[in-house]
Amino acid sequence: MSEPCPVTRRHLQYVADRTRADDDFLVDLKAAAKAADIPSISIGAAQASLMQIALKAARAVNVVEVGCLAGYSAIQMARALPPNGRVRTIELEPRHAAFAREWIAKSNVAGKVEVIQGAGVDVLKTFASDSADAAFLDADKENYPKYLDECLRIVKRGGLIMADNAFAFGQLFADVPDESGVHAVRRFNDYMAAKPGLHGVIAPIGDGCWIAVKE
Ligand code: DHB
Ligand code: MG
Repeated sequence: MSEPCPVTRRHLQYVADRTRADDDFLVDLKAAAKAADIPSISIGAAQASLMQIALKAARAVNVVEVGCLAGYSAIQMARALPPNGRVRTIELEPRHAAFAREWIAKSNVAGKVEVIQGAGVDVLKTFASDSADAAFLDADKENYPKYLDECLRIVKRGGLIMADNAFAFGQLFADVPDESGVHAVRRFNDYMAAKPGLHGVIAPIGDGCWIAVKE
């Protein structure tokens, strides 16, 4: 193998410049979320494309998301689904869930996305086994292992499990991380990598995005 190329900010910008950018609606959504004091921590457009391509290649119809925030990733995933596609997205914070519902309602995937307000594990437990083709984890990092286990029950064989922030907000290798979430991400990455029946890889895009197939 040739020497691996270290991925720099410049590489990520180069990728972004050659990937479908946010349309006006998504630009407006992100601006409105910021104005509403919702943390600006949505995934980027290039990561959204990566996930959309994976969903299209898997012919996904039903998707589950843990951590809806302002609704950006739910809308992007819904856009990759066929007309009968559906995203069930879970959000703990009622104010964020209300914002996401409002923006999803005026999006071009309004009928495809359902926002369920509640705690991830509690809501996931109500979802039937084998009722989804893909799942995306993007909520509190401490509970990622529990979300993964529930999603391995909910997602069908051959389906996808994706997870955001594998690079721990850029602090994966920090000596003294300033977030407890960093330790949680490190633990989760090892847990995910060791899961039997799960073939995954961390794509070095955005803050690191796990993409895995349930074998
Ligand atoms: C942060 C970023 C995320 O994508 C996330 O899911 C949670 C937190 C952050 O930068 O703090
Ligand atoms: Mg995230």
